[in-house]
Amino acid sequence: MKKILAFAMAAAMTLSLAACGGGSGADSSNKGGASNPPVVSGSQGGTSAGASDPAGFTTVEPGKLHMSTNAEFPPYEMLDDSGVPIGIDVEVAGAIAQKLGLELVVDDMGFDAALLAVQNGQSDIAMAGITVSEDRLAKMDFTDSYATGVQVVIVKEGSDITMDNLGEKMIGTQMGTTGYIYASDTVENGGYGEDHVIGYETGAVAVQALISGQVDAVIIDNLPAQSYVEANAAAGLTILEGTWVEEDYAIGLQKGNTDLMAAVNGALNELKADGTFQGIVDKYITAD
Ligand code: ARG
Repeated sequence: MKKILAFAMAAAMTLSLAACGGGSGADSSNKGGASNPPVVSGSQGGTSAGASDPAGFTTVEPGKLHMSTNAEFPPYEMLDDSGVPIGIDVEVAGAIAQKLGLELVVDDMGFDAALLAVQNGQSDIAMAGITVSEDRLAKMDFTDSYATGVQVVIVKEGSDITMDNLGEKMIGTQMGTTGYIYASDTVENGGYGEDHVIGYETGAVAVQALISGQVDAVIIDNLPAQSYVEANAAAGLTILEGTWVEEDYAIGLQKGNTDLMAAVNGALNELKADGTFQGIVDKYITAD
């Protein structure tokens, strides 16, 4: 598993070097902004291939930045009470769009679909707490990393499950996530075998399966894990001590979309440098 992280970091560094020469085409007048709500669209726009921007990149729909996501991953992306996508990824994407002079459009769909949408050129960026992995790098490009994800194990309080006997248990995951991919891998490859893993539509459904006893544990990224444990306080869930695997999150783009990659990376790095990025993270993650 460590190999995967090292590879991801090397890839991210390569990308950041490649991005150095690229301007963001940005106006830097919106520091601390990112408060305008995203536009939600159920349909994929863009019948045309989009117009070439003065900044040198092209988007699916002129003037818009389409972000495909799966808003089932708090605090990175989730729906608010009125069904509007919010979260760290949504706001960071909004700030990137603003810097590029574009309007963010959030396309919410299944996790696998969100990855496919960007690969197929139906969205400009995929942002969904997406782990950079070797397999995914074969199908899409990634920006510099913007967060570290740690996969953890949720169990019921008082259970006899440890990191070491997980292989004897039933594990719930969200379908298509690295939690599913790694856990369902063969024992030789560090997984537990497909027979021990169930992939659910969302992490929340996997957690419900844990509560109802369909599975013994859920493997999921640490921040959603904390959020689900808190949201189900009455069910008495807890996160096992220790890290199952550590990963890098990055924004996915269609392979070879180098102009937009340079622009998005430029904007992302400006947001990191001017504190906007951290401000967004702090809004959603309260230190304890
Ligand atoms: N980091 C994991 C992965 O890339 C899980 C991401 C799930 N994200 C989501 N929005 N449901 O596979």
